[in-house]
Order: sequence, then C-alpha cells, then structure tokens
Amino acid sequence: MARFHRLRVAAVDRLTDDSVALTLAVPTHLREEYRYAPGQHLALRRTADGQEVRRTYSICSPAPDGEAPSTLRVGVRLVDGGAFSTYALKEIDLGDELEVMTPAGRFTLPPAPGRYAAVVGGSGITPVLSIASTLLAREPEARFCLIRSDRTAASTMFLEEVADLKDRYPERLQLVTVLSREEQQAGLPSGRLDRERLTGLLPALLPVDQVDGWFLCGPYGLVEGAERALRGLRVARSRIHQEIFHVDTGTAPAATVSAPAHSTVTARLDGRGGTWPVRSGESLLETVLRNRPDAPYACKGGVCGTCRAFLVAGEVRMDRNFALESEETEAGYVLACQSHPVTEQVELDFDR
Ligand code: FES
Repeated sequence: MARFHRLRVAAVDRLTDDSVALTLAVPTHLREEYRYAPGQHLALRRTADGQEVRRTYSICSPAPDGEAPSTLRVGVRLVDGGAFSTYALKEIDLGDELEVMTPAGRFTLPPAPGRYAAVVGGSGITPVLSIASTLLAREPEARFCLIRSDRTAASTMFLEEVADLKDRYPERLQLVTVLSREEQQAGLPSGRLDRERLTGLLPALLPVDQVDGWFLCGPYGLVEGAERALRGLRVARSRIHQEIFHVDTGTAPAATVSAPAHSTVTARLDGRGGTWPVRSGESLLETVLRNRPDAPYACKGGVCGTCRAFLVAGEVRMDRNFALESEETEAGYVLACQSHPVTEQVELDFDR
C-alpha cells in the first residue's frame, strides 16, 4: 500500500538550466518501505495556498543490491507553469523536508542476463539511467543500447552520469545521442527521432530481433513513434515497455458511452472496503477520494499508473490510458482516475 512520509533533502544538484536532481535521505526505520525496482518513481506532495499538488518523478539512482536504500535520487525538469517543478527548482534547499510516497510504477527491469535497449527523450532518461546502471552492475553478461534524444547538449539531463556509465562499461553499453537543434560531429545523427528515422536507425545499430526488452520513455510523440517503428520491425508487443512523461491535453479523446443515472462504487483499499454513490461526471478515483483520502494517485491524468485498481465487478470506460500495458487491461486492471461507471454497480480493488 502506497504511503507518504517526510524525507529530508540531502543534496540538490543542478543538472541543466532547467533541471535538478534531488537526493532524499531515508531514515533507517523507513528503508524497507522505500525499497525500489530500477525504473520506479516517487510521487511528491505539496500543499500551497490550500491546494494539494502531487507530481511523480522517476528515481535515477541504481537500485541497491540486497540492501534497502539509504538515499533516493530523482530528476526534476521544469515544466512551463509547473506548480511542483517551479517550486523544486527555485525553492527546495538542503535540509528541507518533502512529503514522498513510497515507490510505485511498473516500468521496471529486474536485472537478468540478456540484451536490452531504450529509446528516450528529454527527462525520459531518468528511469532508464536507473535501469541501465542497475543492470550493467549486476549482470556481467547483459548488454544495453541507449538511444537518447534532446534539444541540445546543454539541455541534456544526466550528461555526466551517462558518460561515466559508458566509461565504466565501454563494451556492454552502446550509447547513441541525437540532438534535434544542434549540429553534431560527422557520422552522428541529428534532428528529431520519429518513426521513420527510428525504422532506419535501429536495425543499423543492433540486431532488433535479439533484444529481450525495449524501454521507451519520454514525451508522447517520441514514445508513440518508437513503438510504431518497433511494431513495424516485427518486435512483439510483450517486449515493449513504455512510460510517457508528457501528454498534450486533447490527445486520445474519451470514448462516448452513456453513463447510468445512478451508480455506486465499492472499493477495497488497504484491507478495508466501502460503497459510495458516484456523482455525475466524476471519476471513480474522485468518488473514492471523497470517502477515503488515502486512495493512491499522483497525476490524475492517466499517465503515472499510481491509481491502478483491479475491476472486480461491473464495467467502466476510461477516458485515456497511457500507463497500463495491454496485458494489464486484459487482466482486468483500470486507472481509477480515468474510469467512469458504465454499469450501476462497479467494484474496485486497490490492494490487488
Ligand atoms: S493518478 Fe496517474 S494515472 Fe491515475
């Protein structure tokens, strides 16, 4: 069950003009709760002017082997008008305490031998840095190909960390950097990475059919283009993992299905259940939150997956889903923040 605790900021490292890495110290008695898999994220919560704001940020540090973590490091990039990222870049200082949810997310790679690859854009490098560094440190035979794109070298997050990783594992880490707004040395690609370019580039870089897992992370356009390129190259959907960081509002319009006049949701959460009427137009997460403020969520936008619940009974329609893989929806999972009842009774289990 996801929980918030107050953690102290142990370091603030400026990465670029518009991004920082925050290191959070985890007290001994909380370390088990903050054990994480490489690729997971943390939701940070802040209340200002009576408004609660939550944002998820991926952990960039490698997952410790065996021991629970004593620190957690996350990358934060400034988003135009972003309520949390502006605060993080301008105000958060050493020694401050932040409200931090226990790790969540299924965009993960438990270390295993094999060949893996990632296509990332912008701050999408953050979880992949944790995934690649954990994998290369723990699996002496594993190989990783990292294709990253950014606007310019100056705007690229974790430039040094990635260069260090390449120095440490020159044979097993293949690194390709694509800058969209900067001329690069001869031989290196520049310009935007889209489906067409990736379709040509990927087979030239590595044997696409021998890759055990693909990790796509970044803005919607890049992830979608990379997924279509891989599907076009006959990569099985089960080998493609994706995490989207930014989605323009208006992408993926909601399906139109008529809602029943009166409906109720029964939800099980942290071992306790309840049944409540759903108000017209609200999502099932909103209904549950009015009665159980401890219900898990972060983005409320169908992107982070924190509000995932198992649909035990009834039917729902989701406005949009950028977080659940098709196997999860087929298995019966839904995003509560995007779900609206289609049947008069709906039952959700947040504990499964
Ligand atoms: S809260 Fe992020 S997907 Fe629902």
